[in-house]
Formats: sequence, C-alpha cells, structure tokens
Amino acid sequence: MIDQAMVVFTPSGKRGSFALGTSVLQAARELGVDLDSVCGGRGLCGRCQVQCANGEFSKHNIVSRPDHLSDATRVEARYQRINGAFVDGRRLGCQATIQGNLVIDIPPDSQVHRQVIRKDLDRADITVNPAVKLYVVDVQQPDMHDPSGDLRRLKQALTIEWGLTQLNAGLFIVRELQQALRKGDWQVTVAVHETGDILGVWPGFKEAVYGMAIDVGSTTIAAHLCDLSSGQVLASNGAMNPQIRFGEDLMSRVSYVMMNPGGDAEMTDAVIGAINDLLRAVSTVSGILPEDILELCFVANPVMHHLLLGINPVELGGAPFALATDESMQLNADEMGIRVHPLAKAYLLPCVAGHVGADTSGVVLSESPQTQDAMTLLVDVGTNAEIVLGNRHRLVACSSPTGPAFEGAQISGGQRAAPGAIERVRIDPETLEPRFSVIGSDTWSDDQGFASDNASVGVTGICGSGIIEVVAEMFLTGIIDADGVVNGELASRNPRIQATDRTFSYLLHESRQPGDVTIRITQNDVRQIQLAKAALYAGIRLLMDRLGVEKVERIRLAGAFGSHIDVKYAMILGLIPDCDLAQVGSAGNAAGTGALMALLDQDARREIEQVVRSIEKVETAVEADFQQHFVEAMAFPHKTASFPELGKVVPLPEARASRPARRRRVRRA
Ligand code: FES
Repeated sequence: MIDQAMVVFTPSGKRGSFALGTSVLQAARELGVDLDSVCGGRGLCGRCQVQCANGEFSKHNIVSRPDHLSDATRVEARYQRINGAFVDGRRLGCQATIQGNLVIDIPPDSQVHRQVIRKDLDRADITVNPAVKLYVVDVQQPDMHDPSGDLRRLKQALTIEWGLTQLNAGLFIVRELQQALRKGDWQVTVAVHETGDILGVWPGFKEAVYGMAIDVGSTTIAAHLCDLSSGQVLASNGAMNPQIRFGEDLMSRVSYVMMNPGGDAEMTDAVIGAINDLLRAVSTVSGILPEDILELCFVANPVMHHLLLGINPVELGGAPFALATDESMQLNADEMGIRVHPLAKAYLLPCVAGHVGADTSGVVLSESPQTQDAMTLLVDVGTNAEIVLGNRHRLVACSSPTGPAFEGAQISGGQRAAPGAIERVRIDPETLEPRFSVIGSDTWSDDQGFASDNASVGVTGICGSGIIEVVAEMFLTGIIDADGVVNGELASRNPRIQATDRTFSYLLHESRQPGDVTIRITQNDVRQIQLAKAALYAGIRLLMDRLGVEKVERIRLAGAFGSHIDVKYAMILGLIPDCDLAQVGSAGNAAGTGALMALLDQDARREIEQVVRSIEKVETAVEADFQQHFVEAMAFPHKTASFPELGKVVPLPEARASRPARRRRVRRA
C-alpha cells in the first residue's frame, strides 16, 4: 500500500514526497514554501488558504485531484461560518491533509512576503514583511510542579511554536499578560517587533494590528493607515502643518527658533498635536482604535525631521548645515508624544544630507534609481529642490535653492494650487491671444460655458503649473526672448502687451466681476521663474558634472509640483535637462510611498539605509561652478546646452544673439 504522495507547490515549483496524513501547511513549511500562518494551524486566521489543481500534470508526472485532500473539517466549516465561504474551492492548508498526489497553488494573498499592487506606483508592488508581526500561541498553564512565571512560559511557547528567541517584555506586557492568558483560556495573540520586543498581548485570536506611514511636509502632513498583515491601505488623509503659523517656509521657521527661545518646542508641540489629531481622524474613519496602531513610519525634510523629534534645527540654518543625525531612527512612539498603542514603535528613514532629508530617502526607496541601468534624475521641488542623479553604479545628491516661485509665491498673481487658480495656458502664435483653464473646471476660457462654470469662484490667481505654462508659451510665441525680456514692440500687435514702468507685461486675464482678479505676467514674474529654474538646472548640472555625464535618460518629478506640471513645458523653460519626453514623468507622492514601503517591509529599511550611506553628497553652496551654471541656466531653455530631444516635439524659437548674461549671486533660501 502507498503511504507517500508527491506534492508540487506552485508558483514556486517546490516539490517533495510526504507521508499520507501530513497537513498541507506542514508540507509547505518543510519545503520552505511561502505559506502564511498567524494562528499556527488553529483554523482561526485563514491566512493559510490554498487551492488544489485538478487534472493531469505531465510536466510533474502526476494527477492532482481535490479528493486527494482529506474531507473538509469541522474547523473549516466553523471558519466559513464566521468569515464567509471560501472562494474558488479553497481549503485551509493547516486543516487539509495529503491523501494522494497533489499540485497545490498558493494564492498571492496567502504568501508571507505577499505583494500589494499599488496602481499609482511605477514600482508596482510593495512586499509585505512588516517589522511587527502577530503570533497565536497556547501557553502552558502553571502548576505546583512548574512554578515558573507566566512571562517565561509565554516566551517558551513563542520559541517552541514559532522559533522566536531573544524576546524582551517590559512592565506594560507583564501587567497585561496574566489577565490576557486567563481570559483567553491560555491562548493569546502576541505582537512581536523585529527587535524581539513584545509589544502587545491579547486574549485568544487577534486578527489585525495597524501601522501608519506619515509624510511630514512643510505645508501638509499626509498619513496612510495600513493593515500590517495584509498590507492594504485602509485610509489616507492629510492635514495642514500647523507650523505654518511660525513661518511659511523652512528657513523662516529656523529663523523663528533663532529669534524666539523655546520656539523649537512650540513647533514640535504643534506638529505632534496635528499628527495625533490626524491619527485619531483616520482611525475613526476606518473603524479601528488608535491603540491598535503598533508602528509608525516617517519621512520628512531635515528641518521637519528635527522638529518632529524635538531637536533644535538652528544648525540647519547655516553652513555647514549639520544634522543632529543622518541615520535612520528606531524609537518608541510614546517618547515622541504620539498617542497610539503605548508600546508602538516609530521608524524614521535616514536623511541624506543637511538639505536632503528623509523625504528624499523615501523618493529613492520608491523610485529605486540604484537598480536602474538608465541614468535617472529624481527631482522633488519645494522651496528647495532636492535632486538625486545616478543609476546602479553610483548615486549623487544635492539640494538647490529654488525659492517658492514654483509654488506661486513671489509671483504677482501667484497662489497655491486651489480652485480658481489658472493651471493651463495656451497663447495663439498669430494673434497672441491667450486661453486658459482653472482648477476645478473642465472648460477653457474661450469655451462658451466658461463664465457660467466659474461664476461662483472666478479666477483667483495663477498656480505653479500655470506660471510654468504661461511663461513657456510667452517664450514660444516670442512675447519674451531667450533672456526673458518682454518684447514691448509687440504692443502694436496686441494690446495685452502693456508698458508698466520701464518694462512690459502681458495681460493674461482681466477681472470681470468682484472676486475675479486681473492676472498680469510682469517682467519681474518672468525673472522670478528664471531665478528658480536656473537654480534647479544648476544643481542638476553640478550632479551631471560629478558623474561626468552629458545626458540623462530618465527623469522623475516627485511631489505635488511634479504631479501637476506638464513636463514638456518644464523642459521648454529649461527646468530640467533635455531628455526623451517619453522618459519624463511624475513620481506622484514618492516620499509618502517610500514611507509606506518602509512601514510594510523591514527589508526595505535595510535597503534604504544601505543606499543612503552610498549616496555622494554635493553641497551647492561651496561648489565653484554653481554660479557659472546658474548664470547660463537663466536663459530659456538654456544659454549653451542644446535640447535635441525636445526639438523633435516642439519647434523652439530660433536662438537669437542674446545679450551677455549678467552675473547674479544666488543666496541659499
Ligand atoms: Fe491559521 Fe490555518 S494557519 S487558519
């Protein structure tokens, strides 16, 4: 009589011969097949679901049939009663035993290192391998012959059943443990951190614990709540960073600390308070308790990073821009003042340099330039642009003081991206008449329904993407020349070109009703864009020099700015170097995505820690060539660099003999 059967697991292809009566979970474990289990085979968690293939598999030389598994058990019936029927004839791998030859498929959601597909990511999936995991154990009851403490017996159970060693438990766990064990009839679910710290203990089976990935920006704070076991993002939410009341941009917040002793503590309190409010709001929406959040993962620029940790950021306000630490941080959330589970952990990604923070580490983790052959440029534009260039061989990074012009600040009609802001602009090359669209409306200004569509809001200003487009269109139509000078001679062709003082401006929109504002693009507005884009390009050029390359092959623009601008217009103005436009795109909220990856996958943390250590830092403030690159980059698209790839798509105006570029000194923002 045959007492062994052949089992092949897909998709891994691992195979082995097993005694009849062995559970599928046991067979998978013996072969090292990636099959999940939280409850240790008790039929509680449902993570071990498998599917039996039906048919003849000549490749494996076996016939597999569902009746080669044991009959459905009472435990499986109970699981389905509580959780709903299995889909596609699945079985619990811990309950079904081997009765004949089998081909067993492990569905993606039953794999330990499962992948979560994120449609909005270029790097399509995140591996789920969190630092905090749940384990169900049955703990030996104490008796007179074994008077050891409950904690010792809990640790023994975790070692025997799950192979966990080096376990640590503090007073909080010791206090909770006795009650949990007795309430759960000696069965408990334990949350264990990768360090071996026991973070939580609950009676019986606890299905899920949660984590939050948080991107602390100067303007907004964005949070994603995730189920740490499944990796699913349950809710995402954002809030304004209340530190804005201490200063709009980073350097004004550093100045606030310099001028006001104790100002750093005020700002730390403000941001921690906002994070606590956000945690509560996201938990409520998702129907979970903040006490079930056991892990937080943060990205932030250097100043936000320091203020988040209660570190005075004044050293970041001047050369040599020394960080208190550039290493990743593993902390207790409680010591940061964050109110979730009392033993919750907090992980901060490493910073790259004094002006290149953990947010850039998040972008690098999300975009993985270190795995690319293509020379890849990552740009995250805020009041400073953080720039990373390189590929699998070498990575360099710097920050460049672009100032806030790309966010609509320092522009006469500028505003943040919000309903009513002009975001798209076209100018007719013959008539020089503009048409535009505003955020919140699908119609263009020359469409019939535009006035009625926008009657309630009107035109309120022009945002960053609108500024980029209008200045680029002004360049393409000859309203400004390569040096950015508004051509007053065109006033005779179209009265929108108007004299103001000793320069000229272009009337984009004239107010028609109260609340509707007149938008004029002045000579100074064009200058502000030139200064910002020259700083950005000069930073990129420094990195290209450092790597000895004349061309980038792939460009990814991160952050809100990168999501909204039309990359073609960004290249027409020379914000970024020439590149095949098909290889230029938005990276979305790459910093937040990086935080999410680090939250869900402990290996991603090791990866980014290692990559960041290898990134070479370039400090623009001390690089002699920065000024020269800056001056040359003031012209549209550039004084000396050619744009052959762009030229294939957009006929650029004939380069006219331009006046000698004036040297301007740039001050770090
Ligand atoms: Fe938990 Fe099978 S291992 S249900």
